[in-house]
Amino acid sequence: MKILVTGGAGFIGSHLVDSLVRKKYKVIILDNLTPQVHPDGIPDYLNLKATFIKGDVRNRNKLREVVKEVDAIFHFAAAVGVGQSQYEIAHYVKTNIQGTANLLDILVNEKHKVKKLIVASSMSIYGEGMYKCKKCGKVKPELRDYKSEEIDNWEPSCPICKGDLKPIPTDEETPLKSNSIYAITKKEQEEMSLLIGKTYGIPVVSLRFFNVYGPGQSLSNPYTGVCAIFLSRIKNNNPPVIYEDGLQTRDFIWVGDVVKACILSLENENANYEIFNVGTGKPITIKKIAEILIKLFKKDIKPQITYKFRKGDVRHCYADISKIRKKLNFEPEVSLEEGLKKLINWSKKAKAIDKFSHAEKELKRKGLVR
Ligand SMILES: NC(=O)c1ccc[n+]([C@@H]2O[C@H](COP(=O)([O-])OP(=O)(O)OC[C@H]3O[C@@H](n4cnc5c(N)ncnc54)[C@H](O)[C@@H]3O)[C@@H](O)[C@H]2O)c1
Ligand SMILES: [Zn+2]
Repeated sequence: MKILVTGGAGFIGSHLVDSLVRKKYKVIILDNLTPQVHPDGIPDYLNLKATFIKGDVRNRNKLREVVKEVDAIFHFAAAVGVGQSQYEIAHYVKTNIQGTANLLDILVNEKHKVKKLIVASSMSIYGEGMYKCKKCGKVKPELRDYKSEEIDNWEPSCPICKGDLKPIPTDEETPLKSNSIYAITKKEQEEMSLLIGKTYGIPVVSLRFFNVYGPGQSLSNPYTGVCAIFLSRIKNNNPPVIYEDGLQTRDFIWVGDVVKACILSLENENANYEIFNVGTGKPITIKKIAEILIKLFKKDIKPQITYKFRKGDVRHCYADISKIRKKLNFEPEVSLEEGLKKLINWSKKAKAIDKFSHAEKELKRKGLVR
């Protein structure tokens, strides 16, 4: 069986390619080697047993050539960066929505033997996660918006009674409220793929990845990946910069566990036409992540907590993974402590150019940090 991985030179894609090759699948990678992600060209971790084709998903002809050859597709190629998508709007839409449209167009109108399409969606499409109000029960608050620079309460309040809220796991039925152009493109990609899949009887699976971390994540790309951005700062003896008060939480999942979910989605028919959260279900504060990384790196620095609000950021969102557990028997295996240790070991040898200040200045110039 031959499998196409678009974006297969990227962080998650390359781990998936390794796993597919190990499982004796034939693999084709289509990736345009976006300079922001691959400043040095073809990454040295690229699996030599896979066929690499340099190509852009925005180029329909190129895409058609590879789609014709394969039996299944993982569509991971994307412009990835929440903040950046708020000012590089056309680029994000062209890559993520038009790129996916090209792929679906080929699947509908050209001769091929593709029996499954798996798309990489994102937790960002939820916006805020789910919360519980003592009075009103389960609620989903609006995205936060602060009028002044003096912010004393970072927590969202109940949309009904304005009372206090407690975050609870976010399941796949949660109404979507995209907080960025990136999130909108991911939501559109998911909806378009599932719709066309159902209409033409091509099984589609949409995987909503939470915060993925692990080796191979670009340490010189300041636009995406909290762990990688912090690591790059720490490695260069700079404090990791934290927005708000640092007590916002996320759900970090080890890249190997994400790959497991991908393989299950490919091989198990129970996945067909379904949407799954891919996370651990265990929230952790951003401040804690920074502290653990500093400690593991044995550096004498403290995170820099800015008490600034980055527009669109959600306060809490962590996965309810009961659906993927039940339908695909998925269980994340690598604990955060274990995963971060492995990440640090890898990062010691990895190149890390700290471009955070540049990216931060850009956000400020565009008025996206309060
Ligand atoms: N990393 C995360 O935490 C996370 C979370 C949610 C969703 N996702 C999604 O998972 C997928 C993979 O993300 P990643 O973290 O590996 O990102 P990444 O940037 O490391 O990988 C994306 C790859 O796509 C390639 N690419 C970009 N534009 C392209 C184009 N026009 N044509 C062909 N290739 C192109 C890039 O060169 C890169 O190799 C993406 O679709 C992303 O939206 C990632
Ligand atoms: Zn209430």
